[in-house]
Order: sequence, then C-alpha cells, then structure tokens
Amino acid sequence: MNERSSIKDHVTVVTGGAAGIGEAVVSRFAAEGARVAVVDKDPDKGNSITEKIKADDADALFVRADVTSASETKEAFRLVLERWGKVEILVNCAGGFFETHAIEDQKEEDWDAILAWNLKSVFLCCREAAPTMKKEGYGRIVNISSQAGRTGILETALHYGAAKAGILGLTRRLSVELAPHGITVNAVAPGVVLSPRVAEIHKDRLPEINKTIPMARPGGAEEIADGIWYLSTPGSSYITGVTLDINGGRWMT
Ligand SMILES: NC(=O)c1ccc[n+]([C@@H]2O[C@H](COP(=O)([O-])OP(=O)(O)OC[C@H]3O[C@@H](n4cnc5c(N)ncnc54)[C@H](O)[C@@H]3O)[C@@H](O)[C@H]2O)c1
Repeated sequence: MNERSSIKDHVTVVTGGAAGIGEAVVSRFAAEGARVAVVDKDPDKGNSITEKIKADDADALFVRADVTSASETKEAFRLVLERWGKVEILVNCAGGFFETHAIEDQKEEDWDAILAWNLKSVFLCCREAAPTMKKEGYGRIVNISSQAGRTGILETALHYGAAKAGILGLTRRLSVELAPHGITVNAVAPGVVLSPRVAEIHKDRLPEINKTIPMARPGGAEEIADGIWYLSTPGSSYITGVTLDINGGRWMT
C-alpha cells in the first residue's frame, strides 16, 4: 500500500462506532492499521467491538460518551488525546431517527432532540477535533449525512431531513475555514443500509423500498465504510466540502 492510501497509525475517532455503519468503519479502519477510538453511548456494544478489534491486534480504545452533550464530548476527546496525543481522523457517525410524523403531529421536543442527535453532535465533535488537527497541520473529517439531507423522501422524518441537510451546510462552511490548515471536511450521504435500527424501521416496506433502488437492494454498511475510508486517506487531499452519495443509484445530483 502506498503512503497516499495508508491510514496506518492514524488516530481515528468514530462516533456511533458500536453499531451499523460506525461499526463497519471501526472494523475497516482497524484492519487498515489505524488507531481507533470507538466513541459510543452504548457501553456493552462499544466494549464488545473494541475488544474484538483488539484481539485482531488493533490499537483501540472505547470511550463511553453521549455526543449530544458538550461536556461528555469534551471528556471523550480529552481521553483520546491523553492516550495518543492527537486526532487525525474524525468520522461523525452517531445519529438517526425512529419515527416519522406529519408536520402537525411533530412534537417540538422531538424536533430539538433529533437536531441535537444528528447536527449539534457533529458541531461538538468538530469543535473538539479542530484544535489538535490544526496543531498537526493535518486532518480528515467525514460527517455522515443521508439521502434524506439531499432530497425529499417520505420514508424518513422531517426533523431528520432538516438535520442531515444541516450537516451539509456545516461541512461546506467548515471545509473552507479549515482548508488552510491541511484539514479536509467532507460528507457521505448513504441511501438505505440495514443497520439494526433501520432494519426495524423499514421491516414492513423493504420490498417496496428495493423497487426504488436501481441496484434493487440496500447498501452494506461496509460499502459505506469504503467511501468513508477514501475520504479519510492522505490521498484525498484535494477533496473538501463535497458530499459523496452512496446509494446504489437511488438518487443523484
Ligand atoms: N442505516 C441507514 O440506512 C442510514 C442511511 C443514511 C444515513 N445513516 C446515518 O448513518 C449513521 C449511522 O446509522 P446506522 O443506522 O448505521 O447506525 P445505528 O443506528 O444502527 O447505530 C448507531 C450507533 O450510534 C450510537 N449512538 C447513537 N446516539 C449516540 C449518541 N448521542 N452518542 C454516542 N453514540 C450514539 C448507538 O449506540 C449505536 O451504536 C447515522 O448518522 C444515520 O443517520 C444511516
């Protein structure tokens, strides 16, 4: 592997790394030799995936944190910096939704919670990662948006679509701010991936959804992780502020 495609030893923080797409990123990056901090609010799953990659010789750390909390996020990054002294890659994966409602039934507290879960969490983690990346003069930030943030789809939720579109605005704005420091900031917008959470949400309508996907199937979490990996490599050095759609051809600009 040449230097431009290697993330060996790169200190990587993956939020939501204990399940779904985040777990696939953790596994892939560990296999590439990255040093991986799994930051997740679920200690059982978080410890389990961390022990699994450590058994395969990865240098890894589990940090329990809810990334909607500024204080827990700050402490998570403090622990990562204490262990490795820097952060080179940040993959913001934590997010999601559970229910969709017509606008007149949309509760204000749910709106606030989903915006915090999907958008504020990205801001909080970027805020902690930027100073160490600036100090190093190098960084790769990949924010997980969604097809729901790229176009209107009824199967997802109103607040979720707004938050995921917000991530794209944050990504573009931050990419300009951090470009002079050797830091790239990009987004990945997955289509349908049957993580445990999404498999439950879509369990009754999967055949209908498959009909709307040219490849006639959901994506694998590892197929999303492949795109995230590329945007995390040194070789993606001139790509910043972009959104990579990974959706089996379901939607394209
Ligand atoms: N699965 C899909 O079809 C799909 C499609 C588009 C975008 N996405 C996005 O991809 C990301 C991952 O989704 P998924 O369905 O693969 O994963 P998932 O929902 O199955 O798992 C997410 C992980 O994040 C953790 N987590 C949730 N909230 C957290 C918080 N506040 N702090 C720390 N950890 C937290 C959970 O404990 C879990 O381990 C989300 O941002 C989601 O919006 C998913």
